Amino acid sequence: MWLTLFFGALISLFIWDYLSKRHSYQILKRSGITGPTSLPVLGCGLEALQLGAENLIDYVGSCFEKYGNTFRMWILNESQVYTKDLRHFEAILSSTSLLEKGGLYQFLRPFLNDGLLLSVGRKWHSRRKIFTKAFHFTILEHFMDIMDKQSGVLVEKLQPFADGEQVVDMLKYVSLAALDIITETAMGVQVNAQNDPEFPYIKALKSVVYIQPDRMLKFSQRYEWLFRLTAPLMHHKLVNDIRIMHEFTDKVIGERRSAVERAIADGSYRPLSLGDAELGSKSQMALLDILLQSSIQGAPLSNADIREEVDTFMFEGDDTTSSGVSHALYCIARHPAVQAKLYEELQQVLGKDRTAPVNQAQLQQLKYLECVIKETMRLYPPVPVIGRYTKEDLQIGDQIIPANTSIYLVIYFAQRDPKYFPDPLSFKPERFLDDNDTERQTFTYVPFSAGPKNCIGQKFAMLEMKTLISKVLRYYELLPKGPETKAMFNFILRSTTGMCVGLKPRLT
Ligand code: HEM
Repeated sequence: MWLTLFFGALISLFIWDYLSKRHSYQILKRSGITGPTSLPVLGCGLEALQLGAENLIDYVGSCFEKYGNTFRMWILNESQVYTKDLRHFEAILSSTSLLEKGGLYQFLRPFLNDGLLLSVGRKWHSRRKIFTKAFHFTILEHFMDIMDKQSGVLVEKLQPFADGEQVVDMLKYVSLAALDIITETAMGVQVNAQNDPEFPYIKALKSVVYIQPDRMLKFSQRYEWLFRLTAPLMHHKLVNDIRIMHEFTDKVIGERRSAVERAIADGSYRPLSLGDAELGSKSQMALLDILLQSSIQGAPLSNADIREEVDTFMFEGDDTTSSGVSHALYCIARHPAVQAKLYEELQQVLGKDRTAPVNQAQLQQLKYLECVIKETMRLYPPVPVIGRYTKEDLQIGDQIIPANTSIYLVIYFAQRDPKYFPDPLSFKPERFLDDNDTERQTFTYVPFSAGPKNCIGQKFAMLEMKTLISKVLRYYELLPKGPETKAMFNFILRSTTGMCVGLKPRLT
């Protein structure tokens, strides 16, 4: 009797699996999109979910070699397509209707909720308009002080290791500097992460941004109920860390809101406007203030609305820039000619006094540094994969991507295509000098994504990366010490071997 029930259930599961996948299978087959062997029910899940973050990039690379520029995978009943085909990039990124994120982004939802990165529709549209104001260059100018000050702390923190011998994993130090910058610019509070990495909010954030993406690649942790069952302690830690983060953000928002209300009551309140000399100064901080003073259809944003946006900035604004800056320092250390040219440019534009604050106008003149950063993000894009979810069948050229599929644009491999980037594995910043850059198509180089859901923080990120890299280079010569990087993907591009350099103090 039990055996009959068991086999009955099993056969029903197989039939359900076959019927639910049939449409996608047929369409993908007709489109010539194949992929690794897929078992009934499990799909490629067993193989893919045992890989771990450290092997994922190699695995995806080997699939491109075997199956061509676009391949499909089934993870249980989830349909996934991976592509490095620029026709797909163009169709997907320029679409104004295909804005929903791929299935993997669900792992960000517990701490980002429905912030700008994950939201769609009217909510996303109205908030995007508010943020566009917040990243106006007049506001960014006021953040320069914070970026400059924290770069100064970074070079001090590096000093004990600068003997020309020690191997320094830059990500560890750069990431704390980036956290100090984003916390002060987004929330207006100083957490002093570089001096106190044990600050509870910082520890919680660091833990959440590692645990959540790591889970998506582990079969035993991928599903909430299974995660709770197989890793109860880690599950408890995650819940607790998210609580710590949210409580901290709530506290900051509450205090800031009360300060604004007090100012309104005693008549000292002055609404912020672009060009306001006090924007971003210690007494008035821009990103959070802009949210506090914004309304959508006449209604102000609630604390919960604001929290999801501030949390999104904290996630997007820390790990991405840290990955970019650390990879850039790693590349510069291994290319002495590039380093010499860069240092010369820094001396020319910023002068000899390395303690003097830098401004946006000066950073804009650092053209070669910009090429170095662009070339770094070509080879090591901080966000190596962008995902979207199709709600309907999507025709792209002669191929169709079926409805209910997560399609992942693998920037990491697309930006290494020899057709657009000759000698693609060599680090050559000169590719991005204006004269050489005109031929390139818009979608061949998209580290900040493109189209309506592109990175809203890209100007902020470029200023921050330029400030941090230029400061480090003015104080230290970078040496090619330590192991080569080994790319690892967990949402952000990291390296299993660190991003290591040696540091030698410069005399002037
Ligand atoms: C080197 C640094 C950065 C890189 C490479 C980068 C890259 C990206 C990419 C590729 C996306 C699109 C993601 C997707 O569609 O899945 C994105 C979105 C976003 N980024 Fe950045 N980012 C960087 C820094 C920043 C910073 C510093 C901020 C904020 C201060 C920021 C805020 C955002 C936000 C809010 C979105 C969502 C935009 C939307 O969906 O409308 N990013 N970023």
